[in-house]
Amino acid sequence: MFTMEFYEVVKTRRSVRSYRSEMPPGEALDRVMEAVRMAPSGSNRQPWRFILVTDAEKRRKLVALCKNQGFIGEAPAVVVACGFDVGYNRGGYMGDKQFLVDISIAFTHLVLAARAEGLGTCWVGDFENAPVKELLEVPDDWDVVVVSPLGYPKTDAFVETDRRKPPDEIFSWERF
Ligand SMILES: Cc1cc2nc3c(=O)[nH]c(=O)nc-3n(C[C@H](O)[C@H](O)[C@H](O)COP(=O)(O)O)c2cc1C
Repeated sequence: MFTMEFYEVVKTRRSVRSYRSEMPPGEALDRVMEAVRMAPSGSNRQPWRFILVTDAEKRRKLVALCKNQGFIGEAPAVVVACGFDVGYNRGGYMGDKQFLVDISIAFTHLVLAARAEGLGTCWVGDFENAPVKELLEVPDDWDVVVVSPLGYPKTDAFVETDRRKPPDEIFSWERF
């Protein structure tokens, strides 16, 4: 099995917006799913469900529900991450929104593990929650948190970039 060095994964992960149609091998998907399963969550509640959508018709509908971001439909699979308020939250100042943190951590595992497998993702937050729930039969008390295509990039998408704030704007020591 090919494994990438962790910092290489982090540096070269990009939001991929152009995909080939071939389905990744099952072993690669299994490793990505295992990385998601291992993610930490508040009090280990794991308030999540990750739906892998491969059906062409459902993917077409998902594109429409994500403001017609067409690249989502190019990928052979779309991952839809759902979460719910489990109702107890030790020390949680975030109240019933804690699951957003939990799902975001797990989805970060997903995008990084996918990159390590040579697979592209793009965290999509611009979607209509209620119709996506209806399409995928998500229970009423759950919410959709993230949508992402999953597949091999069409072009060499994994380029290093420094489109980020400089360190002195985002880190400080001892005080804000
Ligand atoms: C919460 C969140 C929502 C996002 N929503 C979208 C989206 O709806 N469509 C899209 O093309 N990219 C979306 N992105 C991707 C960002 O634009 C991208 O991560 C950012 O520009 C940095 O680029 P990079 O991921 O290639 O490093 C989203 C990213 C995050 C974290």
